[in-house]
Amino acid sequence: MPETKAGLLTDLKHTYDGLKPNPIRVFDAEASKTPGVLKLTLGEPDFNTPDHVKQAAIDSINNNETHYGPSNGWPKLRKAACHFLKDRYDVDYDPDTEMVITVGATEGLHSCLDAILNPGDKVLMPSPTFSLYDQLIRINGGIPVYINTSSTGFVLTPEQLEDAIAKEGPSVKAVLLNFPSNPTGVTYNEAQVKAIAAVLAKTNIIVISDEIYSELTYGSIHYSFAKALPEQTLLVNGVSKSHAMTGWRIGTVSGPAKLMQRVALAHAFNVTVASNPAMAAATEAFSTEEGRQDSLKMKAEYIKRRDYVVKKMTAMGFEIPEPTGAFYVFAKIPEGCIQDDTEFCYDLLRKNKLAVIVGGGFGPGGEAHVRVSYAASMENLHEAMKRLKAYVDANRK
Ligand SMILES: Cc1ncc(COP(=O)(O)O)c(C=O)c1O
Repeated sequence: MPETKAGLLTDLKHTYDGLKPNPIRVFDAEASKTPGVLKLTLGEPDFNTPDHVKQAAIDSINNNETHYGPSNGWPKLRKAACHFLKDRYDVDYDPDTEMVITVGATEGLHSCLDAILNPGDKVLMPSPTFSLYDQLIRINGGIPVYINTSSTGFVLTPEQLEDAIAKEGPSVKAVLLNFPSNPTGVTYNEAQVKAIAAVLAKTNIIVISDEIYSELTYGSIHYSFAKALPEQTLLVNGVSKSHAMTGWRIGTVSGPAKLMQRVALAHAFNVTVASNPAMAAATEAFSTEEGRQDSLKMKAEYIKRRDYVVKKMTAMGFEIPEPTGAFYVFAKIPEGCIQDDTEFCYDLLRKNKLAVIVGGGFGPGGEAHVRVSYAASMENLHEAMKRLKAYVDANRK
């Protein structure tokens, strides 16, 4: 195998300098080496993709849909995605000019940032937040700026946003929002969305709103940021979480046509187009009544699991802001236990073979917290709560 010639490594693209693989995946890989480990680490549904969705992909292959599709995605999928967004969240997009099908929400986010950031532009984010954003902003030449929301129940307030905009000045190009939130499980209601939108409407800041968990809200109807501020918002969504389709890699980005022209260019230069079988599957998921029922069934299961985990962990002494969406519990470590979240997670893994994620890895405000994913079977959750209780009982001082 060839050794890399040393001189080649001295001046590679600087925006990648110091970047490390996603810490969640690193910890997960570490945990996987522990025999008998139970993992509540990864953010993906434990359900399989529904059969009728899989069949649509099989049919597409058998029908020889094996050539390059149009870069923005199949017209029928764009239409289905726009219809889905209108039907579910009452937001209006033209499938021809305001919708791009991407390779997962991840590529959608990357293409948005790639399309809008100049070197040194700042991107504001309420924190704790999805750890990938930091790296995506950096590789696209931007500077992530965190707004710590731990004192306001992990919800960004208009005052916090106004302060951050005033402090960071004209180099703020975008705000990157995510609700329902990974990692906190908290979502924003209509009034909260509108209050933030009112602040941003007075600026030329672009909003990238990652609403990939929008189908998983508990006790409230999701209110999209694109409804409050359509002319300034790039809305990111997809089928990964709503239809248990993380491995298919289909996301959507929608927004005002002139911004979308740029996003479409970035997408085309990054990946050309999403794959045909995946687009066939996503069309089925978005456009059929069965597809709608699939996500409702999964949501009903998640609610049971959430209630169970919250009840058990609260009884152990964890403090948990009510999780109103996604499939995460973001819990403050009980008094008397190790308060350093990294040490806590490694100690729990070592002693009781349970893996949960270090809260500080999601940015300021996450320290002394752990993220527990309840996208796991009830059987595994029962066992996990047993192990967690045994750990807390034995190690609380
Ligand atoms: C907030 C958030 N956005 C985006 C993604 C990635 O979505 P996709 O698999 O569609 O790229 C995830 C996955 O965990 C996520 O939690």
